[in-house]
Amino acid sequence: MDTRQKTTLYLISSVAALAGILFGFDTGVISGAILFINKDFHLTHVQTELVISSVLLGALVGAGFSGRLCDYLGRKRIIIITALIFIVGTLISAYTPNHIFLIIGRIILGVAIGVASFAAPLYLAELAPRNKRGFLVSLNQLAITLGILLSYLIDYYYSFEQAWRMMLLFGVLPSVLLLVGMIFLPESPRFLLLKGHIDKARNILKKIRPAFEVEFEIKAVLETRNASASDLSIFTNSHMLKVLAIGIVLAMLQQVTGINTIIYYAPTIFKMAGFDTSSAILVTSFVGITNVIFTLVALPLIDKLGRRTLLFIGLIGMMLSLLSLGHAFNATEPSLSVRYITLISMTLYIACFAISLGPIVFVVLSEIFPLKIRGLAMSLAMSANWAMNMLVAMTFLSFIHAIGTSNTFYLYAFISLAGIFFVYHYIPETKNCSLELIEKNLFSGEKSKHLGKPITTHKEAKGVI
Ligand code: BGC
Repeated sequence: MDTRQKTTLYLISSVAALAGILFGFDTGVISGAILFINKDFHLTHVQTELVISSVLLGALVGAGFSGRLCDYLGRKRIIIITALIFIVGTLISAYTPNHIFLIIGRIILGVAIGVASFAAPLYLAELAPRNKRGFLVSLNQLAITLGILLSYLIDYYYSFEQAWRMMLLFGVLPSVLLLVGMIFLPESPRFLLLKGHIDKARNILKKIRPAFEVEFEIKAVLETRNASASDLSIFTNSHMLKVLAIGIVLAMLQQVTGINTIIYYAPTIFKMAGFDTSSAILVTSFVGITNVIFTLVALPLIDKLGRRTLLFIGLIGMMLSLLSLGHAFNATEPSLSVRYITLISMTLYIACFAISLGPIVFVVLSEIFPLKIRGLAMSLAMSANWAMNMLVAMTFLSFIHAIGTSNTFYLYAFISLAGIFFVYHYIPETKNCSLELIEKNLFSGEKSKHLGKPITTHKEAKGVI
């Protein structure tokens, strides 16, 4: 790839990754804004919970119902529509006269986040050359972490004037950038090939691939498309069902290991460990920064060390830090050492998530499903992800109440352990493997763990050839 092609590819990827900024910003901004919204609208406990969780509900619906549309309208159009929904949802939330419209605005925003959460990584995966796919898809996760951090900073900046409407309104800026940027971006060449627009796909590929790879890639995509012309209905094909089940469990694993107990409740946890309110808010931004830094660390490693290795390292680290958090909260009295252990464990936990489940879930989901139903399958997996996000967010405090803080963290540690076994048995290593090869392996009946293996090596190993 020459420098011009590289620049074009990175430019396209960065614009598409703006969807991740919005995902992170709009889920994070409410944590600070809610303090002042509460004051203005005198919300009850239930109303506050509704304002906060309405985004998650919207995302669950948005992700679940737009998959077919993405396979029908195309990746580019769906992201453009999403940008428009982001703008509408933000304006309704920021200029709301009461809490009802705020909840409506947040549900609309949630729908946009839900669609963006699967459409952006999918678009990035389909544009990327195979040896850079992990990196480029993970730009989306980097953008999510930057969006979360940005939301903390914006909340902090406007907190002095108690300007919660400005906090929410800030989200219009990345939405407009995404809208304008996407208008100029090309459609995914794989989607165009799926729909038979070969010349258009060729023209796009020429801008982002070395000349010798273009025809080869077109041929491979068309071959897989034609080979899978038979019934690929997601609910009747056993190969599809298998890979869909694995994708859904992986997507759920990202949430049920407790990431958002930290992202949404960090100040609460720090306060429980004995920090005063302002130090709790300060150390929370430390968590946000760690998330960004370790996602940056992960980016180049995903295509080098591979998806599985990073998942193992990350999940083991997450499990150990959750055990240590559980241990810290076993102490009878909050002390300086409890505060330190809590801070160190939470930072380690976030770092381990950022190099593993954070980016890699999106990477693997964008790789394992066949082209024809990639949008639908990925949207279903992400919908399960949002459902679990909501479940964890809604049950965390009740768990603490019912079984105690220590046991709650031990529970997430146990789920992380189960996750390690799941990854070992079911998740393929897909680094440096073309999407078409993964699809071929799937339909030739390979075990899910072997989807990323070159066909010959694997068949040789089995003595088939
Ligand atoms: C998850 C979000 C989480 C974020 C934190 C994403 O991969 O889907 O639920 O808040 O990472 O960085």
